[in-house]
Amino acid sequence: MIIAVDGPSASGKGTLARALARELKFHYLDTGAIYRMVGFSMLRANKAVSDVKSAVHFASTLEPSNFADGDLRTEKVASITSQVAAIPEVRAALLQFQREFAKRKPGTVLDGRDIGTVVCPEADLKFFVVASPDVRASRRLNELTAKGENTDIKTVLNEIMARDERDSKRAIAPTIAAKDAIVIDTSDLTIAEALGIALSKARTHLHYE
Ligand code: CDP
Repeated sequence: MIIAVDGPSASGKGTLARALARELKFHYLDTGAIYRMVGFSMLRANKAVSDVKSAVHFASTLEPSNFADGDLRTEKVASITSQVAAIPEVRAALLQFQREFAKRKPGTVLDGRDIGTVVCPEADLKFFVVASPDVRASRRLNELTAKGENTDIKTVLNEIMARDERDSKRAIAPTIAAKDAIVIDTSDLTIAEALGIALSKARTHLHYE
């Protein structure tokens, strides 16, 4: 069973996907982390975002064990990542790994932007997680502040909006809900409530499989 969890930045998709995988004892893949590894590699090597050749090189030679989560989850990395993620060859280089992962038994949960539309259009269950921009900015601010990043709500909101714009308008694999996705708006939901909704759909699906 494959569960796709897509949605924009700080919508709660990562938290939901991780909890779903834990409850169902499925494997979990944060596909954003893979894209962030490419962005981080570009920054570390001092490459300009226009250097497509380097971005494709990093995407094709990723070594996940070389990356620490703390390095990846900064806004600087997020910003360059959403730019290199628009390069078709970068996306193509990362596709195979994601598709292979999705086949793992007994099941998988993948979170990202294009899991239900491009990576696994055949997924058994698709969620598209959204939340209002203000709620998302305040969640992201808490996350960044906890990590020691010195920023403020206005900056974070602007970065989220800029990234939404790039991710949803790009020509290839834009962030959009698959036609058969279940939309969950987490603006006024606790983590437990969002999980409850997704779990009951997943269990119903497993039951009737
Ligand atoms: O945690 P957050 O939702 O802010 O970001 P993320 O999921 O770590 O993704 C970082 C960036 O990678 C996004 O802004 C996208 O540009 C890109 N990405 C993508 O294009 N496709 C995916 N499946 C996952 C991430």
